[in-house]
Amino acid sequence: MTVYSNTVFHPTFCLLFTKMKIPFFDYKKYCKELPYADLVSETLSSGYLIGGPAISKFEEEIVNYTGIKHCITVGNATDAMEIIFDFLDLPKGSEVIVPAHTMIATASAAVSAGLKVKPIDVNFRYGLLTSKELSNVNLSNVSACMITQLNGICSDMDEIMNLLRSNSVPLVEDSAQGIGSFYKGTHAGGFGVGGCLSFYPAKVLGCLGDGGAIITNNDDLASYAYSVRDHGRGVDLQPLYWGRNSRLDSLNANILLTRLLNIDYYIEKRRRLASLYDNNLSALQDQGVLKLPAKHSVASDNPSTYQNYEVLAEKSSDLMAFLKDKGIGTIRQWGGFSIAHLRNLGFNIDNYPRTLDQFDRMFLLPMNHMLEEEEIIYITQSITEFYGA
Ligand SMILES: Cc1ncc(COP(=O)(O)O)c(C=O)c1O
Repeated sequence: MTVYSNTVFHPTFCLLFTKMKIPFFDYKKYCKELPYADLVSETLSSGYLIGGPAISKFEEEIVNYTGIKHCITVGNATDAMEIIFDFLDLPKGSEVIVPAHTMIATASAAVSAGLKVKPIDVNFRYGLLTSKELSNVNLSNVSACMITQLNGICSDMDEIMNLLRSNSVPLVEDSAQGIGSFYKGTHAGGFGVGGCLSFYPAKVLGCLGDGGAIITNNDDLASYAYSVRDHGRGVDLQPLYWGRNSRLDSLNANILLTRLLNIDYYIEKRRRLASLYDNNLSALQDQGVLKLPAKHSVASDNPSTYQNYEVLAEKSSDLMAFLKDKGIGTIRQWGGFSIAHLRNLGFNIDNYPRTLDQFDRMFLLPMNHMLEEEEIIYITQSITEFYGA
């Protein structure tokens, strides 16, 4: 069937027959979004390539936005978590709880400090480790617990903190995806010893390359991190600790400052697109073939930022292939590998039947502020077509 561009059709009718091309994340579009050349000129005329006023201004603005006392920018969120573990200096070989559904970086940060990670199945409804799963874990010999604040929501942190405090277990938050996510008014990363932010381009707040930060209310961690990110040096360049080089560069700080001005728009747009997905796919959820993501942080009315729109779908591989044929890019988070899947690193997924089942069905639909409503309509129509509804 041919659709002529000068013929007026009902928009829904047109969408049904016009093939769109919707990459999972349009990096080319992202690279044209801001006046980057102006930001490069501004950075060059400031004379600061590393450090300087853009870095301190950005750190200050993150403190203002999150309400968390300190922000120490670093090279990426993985470094941020490693620095937190170095600071904690936990007994080598001791056990750290991690959610099974998280990036390998969560676990590798603990492993890099000589610790052993124990993955735990996450909640089916939320995709996060919640107090429900944690209450079944023996915490008496655990040296730390990591919670990943995933996809734009936070876990039920009051209950989790009660469980951890009563067992004297410190919390390290993987809040790499957490910018703009709150639980009962507290920003992700503000519950335990410290958390992290990732400014990887596809994040709600992205830069041009890698970038990250430690966010913490702990003064000792903050002064440790300020020094360790810069080779362990103090104000007079005298090293205080064995450190590393992990710094956000000034150009990216300038870019992030500009993006931070628009963060409310980015999140509001994601929420608008998510509500379109929700409305158009709710019938499939009612039929039991699709499970849509949670709208709020666990046990809280703080809305998701929709860093990701992760669904659980029947026949997920077939659906992903069908969507690919329709020109729609989808991905499985972490390439489809939970921590429990990492056989080469000593884990056995056979011991995690719930995680295995979850990961067989779970994948991400396109979600970012650059998408248009028509594209979401096309995606939801294609999904509906797949299920023959
Ligand atoms: C949950 C989570 N943890 C850690 C990371 C690692 O962040 P970075 O790439 O900034 O090191 C990511 C990035 O994708 C993430 O999503």
